[in-house]
Amino acid sequence: MPRDPDPPPAKRFKPGSPFFRLDKKKPGMLLPRAGHAAVGVDTQRKQLPIYQSRTQLINQIRQLHNAVFIGETGSGKTTQIPQYLYEAGIGRQGIIGITQPRRVAAISLAARVAEEKKVQLGKLVGYTVRFEDVTSSETKLKFMTDGMLLREAIGDPLLLRYTVVILDEAHERTVHTDVLFGVVKAAQRKRTEQNKIPLKVVVMSATMDVDLFSQYFNKSPVLYLEGRQHPIQIYYTKQSQSDYLQAALVSIFQIHQEAPASHDILVFMTGQEEIEALARTCRDISKHLPESCGPMTVVPLYASLPPAQQLRVFQPAPKGSRKVVLSTNIAETSITISGIKYVIDTGMVKAKRYNPGSGLEVLAVQRVSKAQAWQRSGRAGREDAGSCYRLYTEEEFDNLANMTVPEIQRYGPHTVCRVCSSASAQTLLISPEFSCAEEVLTIISLLSVDSVLYNPPARRDDVLAVRKKFISSEGDHMTLLNIYRAFKKVSGNKMNMKLESSLSDLTNVRRCLAHGLFMNAAELQPDGSYVALDTHQHVAIHPSSVLFQAKPACVLFSELLHTSRCYMRDLCLVDADWLQEAAPEYFRRKLRATKS
Ligand code: CDP
Ligand code: MG
Repeated sequence: MPRDPDPPPAKRFKPGSPFFRLDKKKPGMLLPRAGHAAVGVDTQRKQLPIYQSRTQLINQIRQLHNAVFIGETGSGKTTQIPQYLYEAGIGRQGIIGITQPRRVAAISLAARVAEEKKVQLGKLVGYTVRFEDVTSSETKLKFMTDGMLLREAIGDPLLLRYTVVILDEAHERTVHTDVLFGVVKAAQRKRTEQNKIPLKVVVMSATMDVDLFSQYFNKSPVLYLEGRQHPIQIYYTKQSQSDYLQAALVSIFQIHQEAPASHDILVFMTGQEEIEALARTCRDISKHLPESCGPMTVVPLYASLPPAQQLRVFQPAPKGSRKVVLSTNIAETSITISGIKYVIDTGMVKAKRYNPGSGLEVLAVQRVSKAQAWQRSGRAGREDAGSCYRLYTEEEFDNLANMTVPEIQRYGPHTVCRVCSSASAQTLLISPEFSCAEEVLTIISLLSVDSVLYNPPARRDDVLAVRKKFISSEGDHMTLLNIYRAFKKVSGNKMNMKLESSLSDLTNVRRCLAHGLFMNAAELQPDGSYVALDTHQHVAIHPSSVLFQAKPACVLFSELLHTSRCYMRDLCLVDADWLQEAAPEYFRRKLRATKS
């Protein structure tokens, strides 16, 4: 059991505790917020703690080249500051770029800000993450992963498209954000030297240790935002836990049996495997509980989960069901999940460490820092008073390191520089001597991405059965190579087709697409909109398309994306005649159906 049935005396966050400033002098700041769903976004914006300092904040930031903001998660930094700057006309000549360490945060924040500004996502407000660019020439507020801005900086070191760069979640000290510090500082200096439009750099952090950031940016002022954190009761275990997963399981069900169904639980764990395993166990157990317990909706959250599934954590559970979010440290600071009343902190995190002796990077489960533990607890007090169950003793907490060591100090130099490790480069360079450059290049490429294999937990057995075919007794590298070769063979030539190239004339390629995708065609209407020929649905060109600004008469699309509108993605210009030629009978039927 993680704790006694009789909880130990409650420990409350005190004013002056390291991360939550409950300012007694301004009691107004502590008023509970009105219920989330009951009020509109405009009212919600005005109820955020940051709103009261709006004018002061704009005046200060207008004067400054650099500023550092501290405000706890949920105070409104990320969603409001970019809007305030834009509304005050600061940085209007260019783009206000806001970086996020995580893709799911960049997407959900852009969607939220677009909603608040009542604009379509991809217009004034957009986002860019790997493999997805939802921006247009109109985009002024651009949310992006720190990795994407770094990539842009390779082509444009002065970041000339940007007038303001906001490095958000700086306390996380991700390797990309840390490198960006240097990039934006250099861009700022060079732009001033070359009399170009100045670059404003804003650093935002959820924790107080920002002196380093301030010093790095020429002792820039630190601006504090008052948060409106509700009291949180912290419980420690009486004894040290040897099995934190078991302890988490027991705690989840203890809360589930006692608390009202609307009180959601957020559990901090270390990674995909244990999260999926615990999710399965929770679902199984909850099915066999007495009816008085009510149903449970278990939602996993970890970085390698497909993006659409990551966004599921924001959906409320069905009425009467309790939401239990099992998350890695993603949910520590970058995102706000509403409804969380209980936090269970295993005290563990998976982190990468580089061993310079062996040249190896090791991913290992280790204890969190105190800073992380406080951030985790804070997730319980966003909307109302909450509780945090720390699955470790108070003494263990006291012995935690104060701060997490930044990634840049833990990662190998090749990860920081985004090149292949020295060992990989060496292998590649000598591969011609063994007449196997192609194979080595393939293997190194496959290893340089997170994972080429997707492991949907629900289809685990099927996946393992299929994968068996490729397994090589000579190890994982050879297995990967087998998979790649099989992939090349299948996707390249499934049915012994004649492989010819049309070389530079791409008309035949578009014509061929028309023959294959004729059901995904859309036609321009006299009013400038598009209608899908198959469903007669109104559709629009996605802002990420290169045809976004054009108005072609007839297009094909590979995918329809439903957000606020129905967007066509990945478009191809085609001739309407080709469609007729491809499926005359189908279009005759369509025409008859429209007439009747
Ligand atoms: O950046 P910071 O943690 O200070 O706060 P924020 O991300 O700007 O969020 C401020 C508030 O906006 C949150 O407390 C939520 O109430 C709301 N919000 C939301 O409802 N949905 C989002 N995707 C993001 C924020
Ligand atoms: Mg934020």
